Amino acid sequence: MRVAKALFHDIDVLYHVYDLAIHPCDDCQVCHSTLHCKFDDDMRMVLSRLQDCEHLVMVSPIYFGALSDQLLKLINRFQMLFETKFTHQKAIMSIPRITLVCTCGANDETMFVGAQRTLDILKTLFQAREVTMLGLKNTDTIEDILSAYKEDIEQYKKSVNPH
Ligand SMILES: Cc1cc2nc3c(=O)[nH]c(=O)nc-3n(C[C@H](O)[C@H](O)[C@H](O)COP(=O)(O)O)c2cc1C
Repeated sequence: MRVAKALFHDIDVLYHVYDLAIHPCDDCQVCHSTLHCKFDDDMRMVLSRLQDCEHLVMVSPIYFGALSDQLLKLINRFQMLFETKFTHQKAIMSIPRITLVCTCGANDETMFVGAQRTLDILKTLFQAREVTMLGLKNTDTIEDILSAYKEDIEQYKKSVNPH
């Protein structure tokens, strides 16, 4: 959350995914034959907000080489959008820009491989023009991640907010 706030001062809506009540996708396949998901939970609010989202920013620690389970649970619920788009051939929202920021304890770039793959899939789903993966590693030994990555963070901020 600190990393997200340091990167983006102009965030309109900030969800802490651990505060959201989101049921995991259980592959019930209701969305294979309808345009709906059977769960009535906070995912409806998230999906409605994504309708006019210009820039989706997700921030997650790496757990066992993957995104946090709570963020992944939210992303898995996008399966309904996949069915809408590819099975039912109906339009879904486009998100022009997606950024994924991940932190990991190890000093090991390969920890971000799974997250990068997830981002690739989201790029296809939402037809994003611009996707950025920011991997901040070595957090087990770095005292303060924001000062350790100050230059990377400044460079990234300039790239997304050139003025
Ligand atoms: C359940 C769990 C699993 C973790 N798995 C990994 C891992 O596979 N690779 C790694 O480099 N760090 C791993 N870590 C360390 C976290 O990535 C690290 O603590 C994180 O960058 C800290 O971010 P935060 O301060 O935002 O929670 C793990 C930590 C926890 C709690």
